[in-house]
Amino acid sequence: MKICTVVGARPQFIKAAALSRVLRRQHEEVLIHTGQHYDHNMSDIFFDELSIPRPDYNLGIAGGSHGKMTGEMLIAIEEVLQKERPDMVLVFGDTNSTLAGALAAVKLHLPICHVEAGVRMETLQNPEEVNRVLTDRISALLLCCTETAIGNLRAEGITRGVYNTGDLMYDAVLYYGKRLTAPRPGDLMDFSGKEVALPEKYVLLTCHREENTGTDEPLDQIFSAMEALPVPVVYPVHPRNHERAQRLCQEKGYRNILLTQPVGYLTSLYLVSHADQVVTDSGGLQREAWFLGRQCITLLDNPPWPETLEGNVNQLCRPDKEEILRKLSVRPDFSRHQNQFGDGHAAEKITEILSAYQG
Ligand code: UD1
Ligand code: UDP
Repeated sequence: MKICTVVGARPQFIKAAALSRVLRRQHEEVLIHTGQHYDHNMSDIFFDELSIPRPDYNLGIAGGSHGKMTGEMLIAIEEVLQKERPDMVLVFGDTNSTLAGALAAVKLHLPICHVEAGVRMETLQNPEEVNRVLTDRISALLLCCTETAIGNLRAEGITRGVYNTGDLMYDAVLYYGKRLTAPRPGDLMDFSGKEVALPEKYVLLTCHREENTGTDEPLDQIFSAMEALPVPVVYPVHPRNHERAQRLCQEKGYRNILLTQPVGYLTSLYLVSHADQVVTDSGGLQREAWFLGRQCITLLDNPPWPETLEGNVNQLCRPDKEEILRKLSVRPDFSRHQNQFGDGHAAEKITEILSAYQG
């Protein structure tokens, strides 16, 4: 089968790394990079480190409003699909690149395979939820990471083409987790290009959601909680909010937060696996914390991954100083930690389902 895979954002490169290695044994894959993430540390570093095949197309579309970005991607992806005429278009997750890829495909009557289907936060205020709901509605194959996701689709009347494959992010943790080493020179840098020495004990923070970083108030609440912790906080900052983060730390004189440039995946996994605790609003990082047995606080109102909440291993939290500190002091019960994200062979299952697809 000829498959056009659309990627654009950091977590999609990681999922493509886990999938392409297996998929390409049986299928022809054409990789389309929309360009949504483009800084070296947000894009090339993943292709280099994880040996992801070079994209066949890089559309160079990034920034602007959600509508502008998605619209420009739709136009450009349509052109590629018309030229390539694939048997299937594969998209991952919930970014604007996901929705643009799916819309371009459905308008050309090409079947869509949505990997990481069925995730729900039950609010269309969240831009990713819009992308998920619409992509699921028009997909032929809906490949879910968990039974919860399957249940979410069933509740919306979607049962055809739905499979539980397990989570590619879990495949990636098992595969790349063996290769982790402490950060080497150049892996952990501040914004002036100086090395950051990783403290022996630290809390890992990642925070990039529009809801938490679009204005000063929520980010400042999060920072003032981090400032009050007894160990330093390491924060690899997403480019969307590094200016705000730097300014707030300077204005408020926060000394406990080590701001770093975004890191590569292997460094990121190392940081998660050695952290005392993790504070994040990332869908990927909260699962990695869970896979690697780290306590996590997730700075979101609704749980995209409710499986991780068992035993308070992960807790949802508002961006509120006192609530964050209170929840970080709760002792998680790891004995209830049961893997519901598959067996680490999601890539093989996805490949088999694609091979068996009849249309
Ligand atoms: C996107 C996804 C989000 C995902 C995240 C992964 C959508 C709606 N959201 O959010 O689901 O969790 O990617 O990291 O698609 N920027 C740079 N350099 C880059 C990339 C981005 O400077 O390499 C800046 C640009 O100014 C851009 C802003 O960051 O306008 C936001 O980037 P965008 O891709 O729109 O959304 P993310 O916050 O990255
Ligand atoms: N990640 C990374 N470098 C960083 C921050 C995160 O490699 O500086 C990895 C992280 O380990 C996880 C993925 O990126 O595998 C999560 O991506 P992100 O938080 O950007 O998006 P989300 O998962 O929320 O959509």
